[in-house]
Amino acid sequence: MSLFHGHKAIKVPQNITAWDIDPYSKEVLLDPETFFSALRERGPFVYLNKYKMLACGRYKETKAVFSDHQRFVSSRGVGIQDFKLEKPWRPPSLVLEVDPPKHTRNRRFLTKALSPNKIAQLKDFFKNCADELINELLQKKEIDGILDLAEIFPTRVFPEAVGLKKIDKETLLGYGAMVFNALGPDNEFRKDAMAKGLSVLEKINKQCLEENISAKGLAKEIYRSTAEHFEEDELAGMLVRSLLSAGIDTTVSAIGNLLWCFAKNPEQFQLVKDDKSLVGNAVEESLRLTSPVKAFCRTSAVETEVSGIAIEEGTKILCVLGSANTDPEMWDNPYKYDVTRRTIGHLALGIGVHNCVGQTLARAEITALTMSLVERVKTIRPAGIAAWKPNNAMRSLESLPIILEK
Ligand code: HEM
Repeated sequence: MSLFHGHKAIKVPQNITAWDIDPYSKEVLLDPETFFSALRERGPFVYLNKYKMLACGRYKETKAVFSDHQRFVSSRGVGIQDFKLEKPWRPPSLVLEVDPPKHTRNRRFLTKALSPNKIAQLKDFFKNCADELINELLQKKEIDGILDLAEIFPTRVFPEAVGLKKIDKETLLGYGAMVFNALGPDNEFRKDAMAKGLSVLEKINKQCLEENISAKGLAKEIYRSTAEHFEEDELAGMLVRSLLSAGIDTTVSAIGNLLWCFAKNPEQFQLVKDDKSLVGNAVEESLRLTSPVKAFCRTSAVETEVSGIAIEEGTKILCVLGSANTDPEMWDNPYKYDVTRRTIGHLALGIGVHNCVGQTLARAEITALTMSLVERVKTIRPAGIAAWKPNNAMRSLESLPIILEK
């Protein structure tokens, strides 16, 4: 079989629109909302001529495909490449890119290390670091919400929480950019991230070895629990690697996107300041509205059907979470940032067996920072134009000039 962008080229299924758009083009990546609306209007699925694969963006089908790990597997890669047909660029993740029963076994070690009890012990640490950072930033006239805040907070607190010794911000961010851009076609963004990121790969793998992690921290817990059960040398290191792959860029994006929501909607920031019990919901609503993990793929393991559309075995499907999270069939006034909205059901942290295993940690980090902001900052005002950063899987900002007023 000849491969097309690393996967099987499927034929256009009956009753669906074939579309010439490139969802990985700079134009779409920089203006995803126009793409989301057009995608949903075209039906439950579209056929992407450029990639000979499907995409879905309505809430119903995106949820159906993304959560059905039996028919739509992750072991063939959550990007455009089909690992059954083409060798991946790195050994696949032992959680994100495997199916049950292997997935169930491996995920258990992460669930244990990242349990709500363990994360609760980190809350004061996160809050103290957040207070310190916000106090520092309040001394400045104007800041870049991304470079000075969103990139700083997780790269300060996450390595310490995980128990990583000697790891710098650039390594973590370069690695994250590579992991997420690698999920797309071999376009300029993937090439650029690979060129920058490959040099840090060795460093990252080394950091995940037991001798390089501290006695306290979540990584040690992973080493402890895997040692009790298995003799596999690489298992723990690979599981720690999955935290580094998924735990930094996602949180950086989520914080940047949340600041963007607050800067654009001062009345919503004021609502949270007036009623701090809204902090958690303000975070969830920004995740829903801006979906930092914008789109991941699944591959059909069988010939099947969804919403009356026939899907052949080996079909790559781009599941556009950002579009599902702004589908007007599911959400009233979907592009409005509303901190009082009922956000239950958003797909920003995934759904089904692969739902984000780090979500308690992510929420603890972001909530601590948001609490610090609402306690210490009077207003967050835009001080220039926000610039989005094209990325094949993430929706994040490059820069966000803002003024934090005391
Ligand atoms: C706000 C920040 C975050 C967002 C938006 C996010 C989003 C997601 C999404 C959408 C998935 C599902 C992927 C799929 O089904 O294919 C996922 C899975 C995952 N996330 Fe997160 N994540 C965040 C933070 C984190 C953090 C902090 C960690 C690590 C501590 C983490 C570790 C993981 C791992 C290991 C998986 C794979 C789980 C599995 O396959 O069972 N994530 N995340």
